Amino acid sequence: MNDITIIGTGSMARGLAHRAVAAGRSIQILAHTERSQAEALAAEVGGTATAGILGDAVEGSIVIPAVPYDAARSVASQYGDGLAGRVYVDITNPIDTSTFDGLAVPAGSSAAEELQRITPATVVKAFNTTFAVTLVPGEVAGHPLDVLIAGDDDSAVQSVADFASSAGLNPLKVGPLRRAQQLEQAGLLIILLAANEGLPQYGPSMALTFLPGS
Ligand SMILES: NC(=O)c1ccc[n+]([C@@H]2O[C@H](COP(=O)([O-])OP(=O)(O)OC[C@H]3O[C@@H](n4cnc5c(N)ncnc54)[C@H](OP(=O)(O)O)[C@@H]3O)[C@@H](O)[C@H]2O)c1
Repeated sequence: MNDITIIGTGSMARGLAHRAVAAGRSIQILAHTERSQAEALAAEVGGTATAGILGDAVEGSIVIPAVPYDAARSVASQYGDGLAGRVYVDITNPIDTSTFDGLAVPAGSSAAEELQRITPATVVKAFNTTFAVTLVPGEVAGHPLDVLIAGDDDSAVQSVADFASSAGLNPLKVGPLRRAQQLEQAGLLIILLAANEGLPQYGPSMALTFLPGS
């Protein structure tokens, strides 16, 4: 069994796969439709990464669907009880792309909470406020990335925090799964900031960082 299963081969899958290998974790990468894409990413990151395709049995005790929110719902439904007993890391920013002015989840809820309704896995929200390109090195301007983590199950949250720590990142546990509502709004905010042409010093290589006080 691998430690971590990453579903998808896009930008976030690549960043997370780099961090997982840096952490010394064994990883399984499952491509959407083209196994060769998972093989290419596994070869790129090295380590003990294995490649497969959506529908293959999930091996990781931690599973990270690095896919859009609608696809994450499909993945959760497709695997059904195959995800039971696993930690499901929801990294999505469920942006309403018709307006880029809000989230496409019910008021008073979040993608993470909606996913928890349809999967027997234990959902933890994390990594939605770290941009993909920054995950490859794991730092910006010498600062390890803050990884904001929300979840209701202490053991599941700790397993994600341990992954972040071992990958050289700075885990910050922010509270129960309902804090995902704030994390997803923060995700929208930094996406808008990164896209703001009036603030060219930012962009998708920026990081949301909390500086400790004295
Ligand atoms: N990019 C960032 O900086 C960033 C930061 C934080 C959070 N996120 C979140 O991370 C997630 C992934 O973003 P990304 O930027 O990595 O996107 P991406 O580069 O477009 O990659 C998306 C991946 O999802 C796969 N996919 C699409 N539809 C699918 C389906 N129905 N079933 C299974 N797999 C499917 C794609 O496969 P094919 O291309 O083969 O269809 C691709 O491998 C999103 O939820 C996003 O909100 C992104």
